[in-house]
Amino acid sequence: MQSCFSSLTELTAQALVVFCDERLQPDERLIKWDEGHGGLIERVFAAGDFAGRPNECLLVVTPQHPTQRVVLVGLGKPGKTSLESLRQAAGTASRQIQGARISSMALLLPAAEMLLWSQPAPPSVEELAQAVFEGVALSSFRFTRASKTDNDTATASRHVEMICRETEVSSALKSQERALLISQAVDHARTLVIKPGNEVTPEILAQEALSLGLEAGLHVEIHDEKWLAERGFEGILAVARGSAQMPRLIVLHHRGGAPDQKPIAVVGKGVTFDSGGIGIKPSQGMHKMKYDMAGGAATLAILLAAARLRLPLNVVGVIPAVENMPSGSALCPNEIVKMHGGLTVEINDTDAEGRIILADALSYASKDLDAAALVDMATLTGSVGIALGRDICGVMGTHKGMIEEMLLAGTAVGEAGWELPLDERFDVMVKSDVADLLNYPGRYASCITAASFMKPFTGEKPWVHLDIAGVAWADKDAGYKVKGPTGAPVRMVLRWLENRSQAQ
Ligand code: BES
Ligand code: MN
Ligand code: ZN
Repeated sequence: MQSCFSSLTELTAQALVVFCDERLQPDERLIKWDEGHGGLIERVFAAGDFAGRPNECLLVVTPQHPTQRVVLVGLGKPGKTSLESLRQAAGTASRQIQGARISSMALLLPAAEMLLWSQPAPPSVEELAQAVFEGVALSSFRFTRASKTDNDTATASRHVEMICRETEVSSALKSQERALLISQAVDHARTLVIKPGNEVTPEILAQEALSLGLEAGLHVEIHDEKWLAERGFEGILAVARGSAQMPRLIVLHHRGGAPDQKPIAVVGKGVTFDSGGIGIKPSQGMHKMKYDMAGGAATLAILLAAARLRLPLNVVGVIPAVENMPSGSALCPNEIVKMHGGLTVEINDTDAEGRIILADALSYASKDLDAAALVDMATLTGSVGIALGRDICGVMGTHKGMIEEMLLAGTAVGEAGWELPLDERFDVMVKSDVADLLNYPGRYASCITAASFMKPFTGEKPWVHLDIAGVAWADKDAGYKVKGPTGAPVRMVLRWLENRSQAQ
């Protein structure tokens, strides 16, 4: 995607996108431009062909306008406009234009004071432009497997212009750079998630993290089964035991803060395929479990973006990567595993494997890496989707303030979360008669008990857990969301890190 900034009179694109809420009061720049070229858009408004409803999109062929086409896209009710509704509308318009095989477009950046916002103060030009650019960039993700030779991700290459006022150009350019950087990180995650488990094994994921990480300027460590065995990562080793694929622990360091500043640890579940293990899943739907490394892919993406954005923080990414398979050597329900840090776990269900590998990784981040705070992200339970659906992730943790910050960051970027309770009442449910902990206490509150299980491994460090099983995969296109992997919660956690670096 390229872009240049010009006034409406210098437009070279093949389509102009105009954002409009239900008041149907277009920008005065548009009205003037339209009047100068026959006034067709004004007649479209007058005829009532466009109502400005959320994500409503109308492509008008306008032979007399220099662009030949004007795309009207709705922002919904006045007073309800948000950066997210703008991001959605930009994605909708961009998708429509892409669908019509139009290769260049210009977006008319609305003036903040002309819209009626749901937030108390109107956003800055930077925020506005970033939301619009993000909507366009995120909606352009395509994974194509068109031929034997072309099997990689192709983000449609198009020319994108933004029309803004002379005084806004430098802000908009800065925003564009940020939006592209963030959406590239999201695309890295999506590309890894969409690939099948035989193409993204723990070792391949590690190699990918190594090459992308080095390129971005991260310090990368890849630890193998021997290293893990020497240091007591019995949880990771136990889950990996049934697979021909060896486990890996991927550690990525972004050192943007003071040398003595303790890092924030970002931990992501990297189960490259989850068959369930000996407690094998029903075959129907099992193939979907290639996305069980979405948390790990998000962790990699967050670290890449942290480096590219030069966040003035120390951040460490930890990805336990395993394949969960049944075999004669596989972990067997009834076994007791002594985890990293020494706690013992009675395994009663091999399909509750995510919490086991994450427990080892969290313990490592807390004790060995001495993290200041921990965030983990995982496609951990089917039950979070039952509770909160496909657009809201489960947020649990041990630090109220940090949970609050994460929820706010999510709302700002359009990756919503909702807090679920995580207190002592759930601790009793993960107790075992024969070990310190039981890995699967049953269906009741199972997205919460998964978190309760991990809590003792966090070593009293402030910790937030994001259960992304419901949100990491989209079943349909919507706004800027593309069917397939969503890249969640990359943007939420990145925004949280950015906010945190500014609060210092
Ligand atoms: N990876 C799954 C959770 C999952 C389910 C992710 C559906 C995405 C969509 C996890 O490892 C798992 O198997 N969880 C089980 C636990 C239980 C049956 C032991 C679950 O939540 O159903
Ligand atoms: Mn499982
Ligand atoms: Zn799993």
